Amino acid sequence: MTTPRIGHPGFASRIMSAAQAAAFIRHDQAVGFSGFTGAGYPKAVSQALVTRIEAAHARGEPFAIKVWSGASTGPELDGALARAKAMSFRWPYNSDPVARDQINAGLIDYCDTHLSEVAPMAAEGFFGPLDVAVVEVTAIKPDGALVPSTSVGNNQTWLHLAKQVILEVNSWQNPALEGFHDIWCDDALPPSRVPIPLVRTDQRIGSPLLTLDPAKVIAVVETNAPDRNTPFKPAEGDCLTIAGHILEFLGHEVKRGRLPPSLLPLQSGVGNIANAVLTGLAKGPFSDMTAFTEVIQDGMIDLIDAGKLDVASATALSLSPAYGERLHREIERYRGKIVLRNEDISNHPELIRRLGCIAMNGLIEADIYGNVNSTHVMGSRVQNGIGGSGDFARNGYISIFMSPSRAKGGAISTVVPQASHVDHIDQDVQVLVTEQGLADLRGLAPKQRAAKIIATCAHPQFRPALQDYFDRACRDAYGKHSPSLPGEALSWHQRFIDTGNMLP
Ligand code: COA
Repeated sequence: MTTPRIGHPGFASRIMSAAQAAAFIRHDQAVGFSGFTGAGYPKAVSQALVTRIEAAHARGEPFAIKVWSGASTGPELDGALARAKAMSFRWPYNSDPVARDQINAGLIDYCDTHLSEVAPMAAEGFFGPLDVAVVEVTAIKPDGALVPSTSVGNNQTWLHLAKQVILEVNSWQNPALEGFHDIWCDDALPPSRVPIPLVRTDQRIGSPLLTLDPAKVIAVVETNAPDRNTPFKPAEGDCLTIAGHILEFLGHEVKRGRLPPSLLPLQSGVGNIANAVLTGLAKGPFSDMTAFTEVIQDGMIDLIDAGKLDVASATALSLSPAYGERLHREIERYRGKIVLRNEDISNHPELIRRLGCIAMNGLIEADIYGNVNSTHVMGSRVQNGIGGSGDFARNGYISIFMSPSRAKGGAISTVVPQASHVDHIDQDVQVLVTEQGLADLRGLAPKQRAAKIIATCAHPQFRPALQDYFDRACRDAYGKHSPSLPGEALSWHQRFIDTGNMLP
């Protein structure tokens, strides 16, 4: 006999359709949605809400909400709300292309925030009250506790803070997910906070269930809808070359005694390059590895399957449909090897520093001194957001940034004289790697970093122009510590606008 998904007897009378649940949400309210990447976001209430908002707009009534989440969500949430012009404010991360266009058109106020800071900032009250939480869960236990689904994000915080709660119980999610989560929340404000008692990546310090005051639940909606994560590109070309450079570097670090043979907990950013590095590690010499990261991508499942990774701790399963299916089919094989935590723990700076993570993240551009722009094309058009990259880059034991040396089909250099926007200052960027090579910048002063980055990371097509800039900056700049010619550095970008290469 299968266990019912909705065990709490008191919730039976609150089961209703998505449209009925969406009717509780009103114009200008702040709504905290579950969801992190394409995993664990509510799929039905958001779409019903869009229908309700479109009807209001057709009657000439204003209706837009403030959307809080774990990070990015799926097209049924961010995409649908943005398309209906139903979002006035977005926090803390977006990667949806429709929402991105509206943010960059100035139609949505977007507050791009370090992910470790979101739950504390909400609890501290900096973002005002949270009116409604809409949270996807796998099941509701008889006492009202909740089995989370494929992401945790800020769900526990939303459930605590929201005045009203709508639960989506998604029977597509595997009931055997129960036990994969570890929820640890410290609601205390400074100076009353205590150290987080986590000293190993596989350790459980909290509860496998989310808790809430059952009286706040105004609606329970039953759904059966898949997560929507995009497949990764096969590891080839530049991705593979970059992965090779990183593996070689890690091998050297082990030989020099600066890393143990099992490495240190891996953090791997979003995207194909990060996934390729993980795939490469599956074939590499390292074993008994662990990961303390934000999302579990396909490559981590490969590492677990290869017997190389003992445990992966994260806040979300960001798996392609094929890998999601594999996890679903063989879930018991992964029990004890995957821990999903709330994102203020998965990304906690103090834990990242203490555990000594190896941080690996992508970039839009890096300048010759190693300042990294992860977020803004041409310094003003936001691509996604800083996400967890700042949490890990500043606090990691080694902070690696990786990218092909050219973007836009080879038209522009990702190594530039001066970054048009800086997310990660040069002090937070220890290793820069492109398909051209890997620059270990630790212990180097700015001009030494510039010489190394130009010679090692820049594409040969752009090296002469970068060297010319650097030489003239060394000669003419006001200061000779990090010599730069600001006006000229920006015109370096301008010419790509002029030729149309940078237009979205
Ligand atoms: N100039 C202009 N556009 C650029 C560019 C540059 N120097 N570099 C990249 N882009 C554009 C690409 O053309 C692409 O645009 P498109 O989608 O319109 O084709 C887009 O940015 C993404 O680039 P892509 O080559 O696919 O890189 P990616 O998937 O490796 O992502 C980041 C790179 C920086 C966007 C991504 O890593 C990111 O969002 N980082 C911030 C958050 C983060 O690091 N999270 C992980 C922390 S746990």
